[in-house]
Amino acid sequence: MRKPKVAIMISGTGTNMEALLKAMASGELNAEPAFVGSDKSGAKGLKTAASMGVDTVCFDYSKGKTAAEADIERSVKETGANWIVLAGYMRILSPDLVNKFPGRIINIHPSLLPSFPGAHGIEDAWNYGVKVTGVTVHIVDELVDHGRILAQKPVEITEDDTIDTVEEKIHRVEHEIYKRALKKLFEDNPV
Ligand code: GRF
Repeated sequence: MRKPKVAIMISGTGTNMEALLKAMASGELNAEPAFVGSDKSGAKGLKTAASMGVDTVCFDYSKGKTAAEADIERSVKETGANWIVLAGYMRILSPDLVNKFPGRIINIHPSLLPSFPGAHGIEDAWNYGVKVTGVTVHIVDELVDHGRILAQKPVEITEDDTIDTVEEKIHRVEHEIYKRALKKLFEDNPV
């Protein structure tokens, strides 16, 4: 079986990206990175990826979303990436781009969707006062934080928690659930 190639897209720290790259390097996730891409040239995760020997690329949105997405599409095609994995990518992909890779773009969101979609899933859940939040891994469709759910895991919010401890718990869960969900997805859909 051929190893699937994965393009990982980030905008920030890239702890999920790092967990996935480590899982690929150890063989726990049978896949290889095609590149790590970002809309932010200063994203910390780009340095982490480079230090792990992974190619990095920056997509320049200052020339417009259409042009930046054309570059994304070109990078994916040129590197032969089979999957696009969003890991804290803070840009909404246009339906046009999503439709070019149907079912091939995956996202992780720090809440139990469909609750608390958007850029502040953890904060919104905390402010609402829910006692259970969690993590969702899903296929990306044309809507925001929407699409077939691949995996979900709840995270309990207790009396002792602060928003920071909730965030830590969410991240710990994310780093486990993402690699497991992708492992199953890649096994079920060989390239
Ligand atoms: C994660 O909470 C992820 O669910 C959300 O963005 C955050 C990225 O964190 N989409 P990191 O850059 O992987 O640390």
